[in-house]
Amino acid sequence: MDTQQIAAMAKNDPTIINLAVGEMDFETAPIILEAAKGTLDEEQTRRYAPIYGFKDLRGLAAQDFQEDGLKATPENTIIGPGAKPLLSATLFATIKPGDEVLIIKPYYPSYLTACKVLGLKPKIIDRLPTASDLEKTKALILNYPSNPTGLIWDFEKLHLNKDMWVIADEAYRKIVFNRQHQWTSIGTVHRKTVTIRSLSKGHNLAGWRIGYLIAPHKLVMKRVAEYLGAVVGCACSISQKAAISALKNGASLSQGQIDDLRQRKNLVVDFFQEQGIPCANPAGGLYVWIDISQFGLSSCEMTILLLEKAKIAVSPGRDYGDDSYIRICFSAVSTEQLKDALKKTEGVLTKWRI
Ligand SMILES: Cc1ncc(COP(=O)(O)O)c(C=O)c1O
Repeated sequence: MDTQQIAAMAKNDPTIINLAVGEMDFETAPIILEAAKGTLDEEQTRRYAPIYGFKDLRGLAAQDFQEDGLKATPENTIIGPGAKPLLSATLFATIKPGDEVLIIKPYYPSYLTACKVLGLKPKIIDRLPTASDLEKTKALILNYPSNPTGLIWDFEKLHLNKDMWVIADEAYRKIVFNRQHQWTSIGTVHRKTVTIRSLSKGHNLAGWRIGYLIAPHKLVMKRVAEYLGAVVGCACSISQKAAISALKNGASLSQGQIDDLRQRKNLVVDFFQEQGIPCANPAGGLYVWIDISQFGLSSCEMTILLLEKAKIAVSPGRDYGDDSYIRICFSAVSTEQLKDALKKTEGVLTKWRI
């Protein structure tokens, strides 16, 4: 059983507490819903959007990057139907079939699938790359805050070849728990970086499918558009109009919602650490990455045990590159359900230990 099968099962069975899917149980901001409703009167429903996205949305997305010191303009910003297709489009645009791509373990599973689909050669490492890791590689994918660990990389220790591509996945940019954290985008220090962001997480718009990227090169822009043109056409025009409202009105998660997520994250981290089950405290994102090696079960076996005995859906670490971990998402259910899930997990694990 893999993460996607578990997520599908949990979605179809309301008695399962779903800690597998990276969604939020907060409501969508009303101002975004109003904007989406307005598009019905404009009859956006029967129109394709431009392939690069609506110009005003490109401008707003560019502003979002500029706020972090990235050299973005509407002209080098592209809107896509979520960050996921933009990741594949970027790999397609920057490197050739057979080229090596460095991926840091544990990783977001779509990186491997995208490499497979595009005929690229993923090389998996479990830390920031060293000089020898970089000898043959054409691109490095960096994700921060990381899915699944919540780690935000310290780029000071990173030495890159100036000719290689970096694909910076900043899907969780807006979900950082330390209010004092000084955000650094790798694109501010490495020129050949394509930076990708999403409205799915920080704006709680996963179902609307809007992501955006900036590329430092016209040719990359052209190739990204070529890929999107072939595979998806354009991002949904209704969603784009709603996204304009989200960015214009600064309708990302409020500080109160981030504080709420921090509390849920602490609930999970404290629970596992008190049980003597190692897990790192995430700096951002929506997940806790839990070391289950002391139980002598593979990540799939643990996932099935929790599903069968406690009706809790988690994600097996195998899909993220490490079979001795599971991933728990703390944002998709209410705090009460999360507490209930942890209590039930304790029951299952205690019985298993005896
Ligand atoms: C690290 C990471 N990148 C990209 C995505 C894809 O985001 P989107 O919903 O915008 O396609 C996800 C979704 O879970 C993610 O975890």
